[in-house]
Amino acid sequence: MGITTLKDKTAFITGGASGIGLGIAKVLVARGAHAVLADLRADHIERALAEFAAAGQTEAVTGVELNVMDREAYARVAADMVERFGGVDILVNNAGVGPEGPILEATYADWDFGLGVNVNGVVNGLISMLPQMREHGRGGHVVNTASLAATVYMPGSFTIYAASKAAVLNMSENMRADLAEENIGMSVLCPAFTKSNIHETGQNRPEHLREGSAWAQSEQTLSERPIGENWMEPEEVGEMVADGILADQLYIVTHGDFRGPMQTRHEALMAATPETETLGLGLN
Ligand SMILES: NC(=O)c1ccc[n+]([C@@H]2O[C@H](COP(=O)([O-])OP(=O)(O)OC[C@H]3O[C@@H](n4cnc5c(N)ncnc54)[C@H](O)[C@@H]3O)[C@@H](O)[C@H]2O)c1
Repeated sequence: MGITTLKDKTAFITGGASGIGLGIAKVLVARGAHAVLADLRADHIERALAEFAAAGQTEAVTGVELNVMDREAYARVAADMVERFGGVDILVNNAGVGPEGPILEATYADWDFGLGVNVNGVVNGLISMLPQMREHGRGGHVVNTASLAATVYMPGSFTIYAASKAAVLNMSENMRADLAEENIGMSVLCPAFTKSNIHETGQNRPEHLREGSAWAQSEQTLSERPIGENWMEPEEVGEMVADGILADQLYIVTHGDFRGPMQTRHEALMAATPETETLGLGLN
């Protein structure tokens, strides 16, 4: 189902100019794809394109400035992809931010920022890009970046982030069968600790959502958080994603470190569920 080779495919990767998105782009390019790095940050795009140029891969990448929250801009970029590439084959809804802070102090601005980028950014990607992926008839693949944070109990300070990623995980699971009918595969990436620039989240917050935020201090603290030496390399995640696309794997999970907490949550939910059926639907 979906695509069987990455060679000569066009991959549109949001947040593709840094961290995990860039790792995915590098691996897809190494395996013969053309990567479109769609990113909010011009400085990230410039740096990423310079890396590809240094590797002699200038022709294999295109940089596009895009805020995934901006639906009109997304529609324009989508039309441009049809014109330049005959439509994209692989859509990677990866752009994300990591807002964290005292949840009981959180304001609408904090929720709108976290859900706006992490959930609506994915929704906007689907609405903008799926029509061309269905119309060109070549089949394709969608990868949505969620997080292992969506699968475990998290500290309260991660409530907005984890809720946003739970939405991405859930929508990916439930859209999969309908996409399969169009020969489009669906994977959801659940990473944990990976080397990236997500500590720059505060810099990626739009001006109008800075006003009224209660988390300026938390975002300042996050900006100073060092990157762990033992965190995963983005290219390692990229390899898992490339393999996952080709295998049309629903879940792409990077770390085994949260198996216990994942099980605890699952078992608590099962323990709260009646043993007996109420409606006799025959699903068990
Ligand atoms: N790094 C981790 O440990 C980790 C763990 C779990 C999930 N994730 C998820 O992986 C994804 C990538 O994050 P990362 O860690 O590589 O961070 P990153 O900050 O290095 O990369 C994210 C990129 O997205 C871009 N971006 C931010 N807001 C955007 C917007 N509105 N429109 C377009 N681009 C935007 C940023 O400019 C940046 O280049 C995110 O969805 C994140 O939640 C990361």
